[in-house]
Amino acid sequence: MKAIQFSRYGGPEVLDTVEIDPPHPGPGELRIKVCAAGVNPSDWKRREGQYRAFEEVGFPSGVGVEASGIVDEVGPGVASTFVGDAVFGYGRATMAEHAILTHWVHKPDDLPFEIAGGLPVISETAWRSLDELGVQAGETLLVSDAAGGIGSAVIQLARIRGITTIGTASPQKHDYLKNLGAIPTTYGPGLADRVRPLAPEGIDAALDVAGSGIIPELIALTGDPTRVLSVADFAAEEYGARFSHGPPKEPERVLADVARLYSMGQFRLHIERSFPLEQTAEAQTISAAGRVTGKLIISP
Ligand SMILES: NC(=O)c1ccc[n+]([C@@H]2O[C@H](COP(=O)([O-])OP(=O)(O)OC[C@H]3O[C@@H](n4cnc5c(N)ncnc54)[C@H](OP(=O)(O)O)[C@@H]3O)[C@@H](O)[C@H]2O)c1
Repeated sequence: MKAIQFSRYGGPEVLDTVEIDPPHPGPGELRIKVCAAGVNPSDWKRREGQYRAFEEVGFPSGVGVEASGIVDEVGPGVASTFVGDAVFGYGRATMAEHAILTHWVHKPDDLPFEIAGGLPVISETAWRSLDELGVQAGETLLVSDAAGGIGSAVIQLARIRGITTIGTASPQKHDYLKNLGAIPTTYGPGLADRVRPLAPEGIDAALDVAGSGIIPELIALTGDPTRVLSVADFAAEEYGARFSHGPPKEPERVLADVARLYSMGQFRLHIERSFPLEQTAEAQTISAAGRVTGKLIISP
C-alpha cells in the first residue's frame, strides 16, 4: 500500500510516499481502508522535531493521527465492530491507504467520510477545553484563533451549551464566525479595547488556541488566571493560567456525541481543501502557514 513517511526531522521535503506492507491491528485495535485523514498542526510540529523533548519519533515514521474509513481487519478482543463497518476515530500513521485505529465510533450514514476524518482532534480538544475551563451557560467566552479547526469546534459546542462566544480572526473571516454563532473581532494590539464593548458584562473565561503570546492580556480581561486556558502556549502556566493537552479524554464518548450533533444539524465542519495522499507535504505547508479556515483533509 501507499503511505506517507519521514525518516528524519525536517521540512516538508522529508516526507516521502512509500510502498509498504499494510499494518495489522493489535489487541483492541482495528484496521481501516482510509477514506479521509485530517491534517493537524501536530503533524508538521512532530515532523519538525518540535515534540522531541517529550516524544521521540521512531524512524521511519508514519504521519497522521485521525481518519475515517471502512474496517478491513479487526484485532483480537474487539467487539461490536466488524469488517465492512464505516468508522472514524484516532489512530496512527493515518496518511496511508490502510491505517490502524485505536479509538473509534461508528460513522452515521449522513456524516460524510471527508468530514468524519477531520473531526476527532478538533472536537475532543474543544470539548476538553470547555470542560476544563468550567465555562457555564450564560457566561461569555473569548476564543483566540476562532476560525481554525479547534476554534470552529469550540464556537459550536459553546453555542450548544448556552455560552456566548467572542472569537478572534482576520476581518474576511468574520462572516464565517458569525455563521458558527460567535461575535467576531480582530486579533492584534488593542484586543482588550475591542472586546470590552462586545461584552458589557465582562469576559468570564478565555481560551487561547492561537498561542500568540496573549495570555497576560487574557488574564487582564477575565480578571482571573484560573479562567484562562491555552492549548497552544506552553508559557501559559508561568502566568498562572492553565495548559490543556492530550491524550484524549473519553474520545469515544465525545466522538459519538459530535456525530449525533452533526446528524441533528447542530455541528458543521468546513473543509477548506482536500488533497490526494501524494500532496500531504503541500497540505502540511499550508497548515503551517496558519491561515486555514476549518480543516484540511487528505483523501487517499
Ligand atoms: N493542547 C492540545 O490538546 C492541542 C490539540 C490539538 C491542537 N493543538 C494546537 O492548537 C493550535 C490550533 O490548532 P488548529 O488545528 O485549530 O489550527 P489551524 O486550524 O491551523 O488554525 C488556523 C487559523 O489560525 C488563525 N490564526 C493565525 N494566527 C492567529 C492569531 N494570532 N490570532 C487569532 N487567530 C489566528 C487563522 O485565522 P486568520 O487567517 O484570520 O489569521 C486560521 O484560521 C495549534 O497550535 C495546535 O498544535 C493543541
